[in-house]
Amino acid sequence: MAEQSGLIKGLEGVVAAETALCDLDGANGRLAYRGYDIDELARQASYEEVAHLLWRGELPTRAQLDGFCAELTAARPIPDQLLAAFRLLPKKADPMRALQMATAMLGTFDPDATDNSQEANLRKALRLTSQLATAICAHHRIRLGQEPVPPSKDLGHAADFLFMLTGERPSAVNVRAFDAGLILYAEHELNASTFTTRVITSTLSDMHSAVAGGIGAMKGPLHGGAGEAVMLTLKEIGQVENVDAFVEKALAAKRRLMGFGHRVYRGGDPRQVILRDLAEAACRQSGQGMWYEMAVRLHERVNRAKGLIPNVDFYSAPLFYSIGIPVDLFTPVIVAGRMAGWTAHIIEQHQDNRLIRPRGQYTGPGRRLFVPLDRR
Ligand code: CMC
Repeated sequence: MAEQSGLIKGLEGVVAAETALCDLDGANGRLAYRGYDIDELARQASYEEVAHLLWRGELPTRAQLDGFCAELTAARPIPDQLLAAFRLLPKKADPMRALQMATAMLGTFDPDATDNSQEANLRKALRLTSQLATAICAHHRIRLGQEPVPPSKDLGHAADFLFMLTGERPSAVNVRAFDAGLILYAEHELNASTFTTRVITSTLSDMHSAVAGGIGAMKGPLHGGAGEAVMLTLKEIGQVENVDAFVEKALAAKRRLMGFGHRVYRGGDPRQVILRDLAEAACRQSGQGMWYEMAVRLHERVNRAKGLIPNVDFYSAPLFYSIGIPVDLFTPVIVAGRMAGWTAHIIEQHQDNRLIRPRGQYTGPGRRLFVPLDRR
């Protein structure tokens, strides 16, 4: 029998890396990026300011922000070959698969693709963040049989995303809500997808490869895919009056309720408090208050019956839906937000790398004699 290891299933509670990016206090439901409380960042900063903070360590001055935004804007266009590749995909192709393909393909065009120096990684982080936003919207329009909308030169990151998605200049209210949503998703310590990007980076692989892996991890319904599942649940419920019966049936069937529970926050996810306010305003403003009301009732009923608390993906669902994000783009949008955090972690991992290589506890048969094929 091989040596025994202290098995910690799901690595729960294991501290696997040092990070200066995110201070996640699960017991007290607090979250800060590089020391700044998430509440203040979501309500007062822009996604660009947060990306600057995560990548470069400090919030930018006005002059720094202007230069930084100009760089992000210049990096928005994606190669024609990627647009051509989107046209070759089946119309039903999962947007997350298309995004993974886009990331790998962008790596083949990136002049710094295999350069893991700090300077190259900062350039790639910026390019990838801008390009993947463009790619998400371009793929979406192509699958609908529409022409992609080229990125604008005068809109901020959040506004440009909504513009490329719809071809229309978004309202200030929707831009603010979407910007805050991106900020709330920008970083979250060693969640499954960020850990994936750090594992890939620890082999001295490159940023595009790590981000493509992160997208694969984010896709699952226990992680970023939960937001999409929340919206499908709300649609299944249909109206506020159906919530109680739905919850009773779901709990009796021991159904996993998407958007509830968290590995680290046991008392409450601070992001959902902010998202709840944003969702209420956006749903009411768009005349879709029913989604918000349904979500609140579901929250209350599930909490009362099972003590479960909503996580970040719960109120982001009615928020995204009410500002016109298609349900199967919720997870790509979460990726668009998480780009700043993933890439910051990739840079951090390169700065103090050690191969991430845990052990497995063997549970198979003991040693046995090999039997040649013709005697089996
Ligand atoms: N619905 C029903 N029961 C739940 C849920 C839920 N959403 N979450 C936890 N539980 C129960 C679970 O059945 C278990 O009960 P018991 O001990 O009786 O078997 C207990 O709570 C502990 O659950 P767990 O799955 O062992 O806890 P975990 O830390 O491994 O899981 C989680 C955390 C997020 C995977 C889980 O809460 C879950 O599946 N939630 C639904 C999916 C979801 O919303 N994911 C988004 C997570 S936050 C954002 C992100 O990561 O992107």
